[in-house]
Amino acid sequence: MRTLVRTGLVRSVGFMAPGQARMVVEEPATASAAQPGQFLEIDCTPAADGECARSASLRAPFLRRPISFCNVDRVAGTFTLAFRVSGAGTDALSRFRTGDRLSFLGPLGHGFTLPATGTCLAVGGGIGVYPLLHLLRAARERGLGTAAVCGYRSPEEAFLLDEFREVSDRTFFASDSGGLDFTGHAGAALEAFLASQTPAGPVTVLTCGPFPMMRAVAGLCARQGHACQVSLEERMGCGTGICLVCACKVRSLERGEPEYRRCCTEGPVFDAREVVWE
Ligand SMILES: Cc1cc2nc3c(=O)[nH]c(=O)nc-3n(C[C@H](O)[C@H](O)[C@H](O)COP(=O)(O)OP(=O)(O)OC[C@H]3O[C@@H](n4cnc5c(N)ncnc54)[C@H](O)[C@@H]3O)c2cc1C
Ligand code: FES
Repeated sequence: MRTLVRTGLVRSVGFMAPGQARMVVEEPATASAAQPGQFLEIDCTPAADGECARSASLRAPFLRRPISFCNVDRVAGTFTLAFRVSGAGTDALSRFRTGDRLSFLGPLGHGFTLPATGTCLAVGGGIGVYPLLHLLRAARERGLGTAAVCGYRSPEEAFLLDEFREVSDRTFFASDSGGLDFTGHAGAALEAFLASQTPAGPVTVLTCGPFPMMRAVAGLCARQGHACQVSLEERMGCGTGICLVCACKVRSLERGEPEYRRCCTEGPVFDAREVVWE
């Protein structure tokens, strides 16, 4: 595998909801290569002007952090990263300023596989909604039907609603505390959505979010006969298949035996039938 270290120019950075940051980065080669569900390993401290990307990574006080593509604009040569500030790395990332240089590895990982026909139904919970925006935009560009079921803690902590409406034929927003289209988590919202709607053609469900939510989504898809792909979130070290920190247990569809795969290279997206939900 060819690993690419690149630097991009930060075009904007800010908060879109409490603790939820968004950064737009200009780097045309990365924007044109990015596939839905792929991610970057980000150096969370700015690279000094003219400094080589590798030395910038050696200066960082911690490992690079994995962040997915949330949106890509190939014409402008930019991509958007959206992230929750959850620790030192993402806090440092949220403090970048316009004009800073961002060092990253990627695009990395095996992302979502778009179906040939029918409807892409994206189901996201919390920060799991982020990669699904890029996915739905790509699906619409291919002429596929698109629908989004997104779950949040509360309406005040909900984000990207307008952006999901823009790329989806139908949206259904859920909140644990009520106040949106459905009260409950995204897995329960999916069941209500499918009971009330008939999406065009075969449905492929693509999901990202908390493990219990994705387990519920995978179970529902198995019962109803929908194809389902899940994006797993493991702690990562190298992001490039070397350290084995991100090993996850799956069951090979061909052999039926449990085995371990690297989430960073063979994933993060897997066929839901392969995942061992324990
Ligand atoms: C493939 C992939 C794509 C991701 N994409 C996004 C994204 O688009 N937006 C986003 O907000 N986050 C994303 N994450 C999660 C993000 O990488 C972590 O939140 C980040 O690394 C935390 O770093 P930190 O230094 O801020 O916090 P740390 O101090 O390292 O951790 C803070 C808290 O987050 C938990 N945490 C750290 N890493 C992970 C992880 N990989 N999975 C689950 N919990 C974790 C820790 O256990 C701890 O409770 C992604 C993770 C993966 C594996
Ligand atoms: S993070 Fe190192 S092998 Fe996956």
